[in-house]
Amino acid sequence: MSDKKNELLKETPTDHKIHDLIKNRWSPRKFADTPVSDTDLQSLFEAGRWAASSNNFQPWKIVWGKKGSETYDRIYETLAEFNQGWADNAPVLLLGAYDKKTPDGKDNFHALHDLGMFAANMTIQAQSMGIAMHQMAGFDHEKAHKTFKFPEDHHMATAIAVGYYGGEMDDLSGDLKKEEKKDRQRKKQDEFVFNGNYVDRADVSEDK
Ligand SMILES: Cc1cc2nc3c(=O)[nH]c(=O)nc-3n(C[C@H](O)[C@H](O)[C@H](O)COP(=O)(O)O)c2cc1C
Repeated sequence: MSDKKNELLKETPTDHKIHDLIKNRWSPRKFADTPVSDTDLQSLFEAGRWAASSNNFQPWKIVWGKKGSETYDRIYETLAEFNQGWADNAPVLLLGAYDKKTPDGKDNFHALHDLGMFAANMTIQAQSMGIAMHQMAGFDHEKAHKTFKFPEDHHMATAIAVGYYGGEMDDLSGDLKKEEKKDRQRKKQDEFVFNGNYVDRADVSEDK
């Protein structure tokens, strides 16, 4: 494998066997110049479309813009300063929103979860196509809400940078480059998986 290819694959120290699409996914801040076509985007949105959702309400709403378009710039303008420092490396920017109400006007407590399902489906589809997605909480959700004229009963939850894996990591500023080269880390399963009461989990058990 060439050094370039190695740079695009991050060390992922899994404790158990998982699918390569999950193992090799990560959130880059640099992308290849390769354009993401309309057909590519349609596949990503189609993967999201077939996500499970509570009562099949499908509360997700997505705004998308390609680099060079007014919509892209309007999404970019909603990003936090830190994210503006790298997100314009991405050929596509998205906003993810959800409808807070069920079709009969009740609160839908699962809508954020469902938008997450949509994003997860998209992410895995993207990975199968060599496309990376970097999700961002760092954006001004009120500004995005107003800018894109969403109704009151919707919430803007995330921004997402999308592009093919690639590009020169060395183009990133010092701090970002260091971040980009960091190994992937996760909590151990026994910190969040309980075969019983939360308080009996392994990391708080007395005989630890
Ligand atoms: C909902 C959400 C919000 C995030 N917000 C930001 C963000 O504002 N800026 C950023 O650089 N990364 C952001 N990230 C990326 C996470 O930092 C990243 O997923 C995490 O460090 C794990 O790294 P990995 O995705 O490469 O495995 C966000 C991820 C998610 C899912």
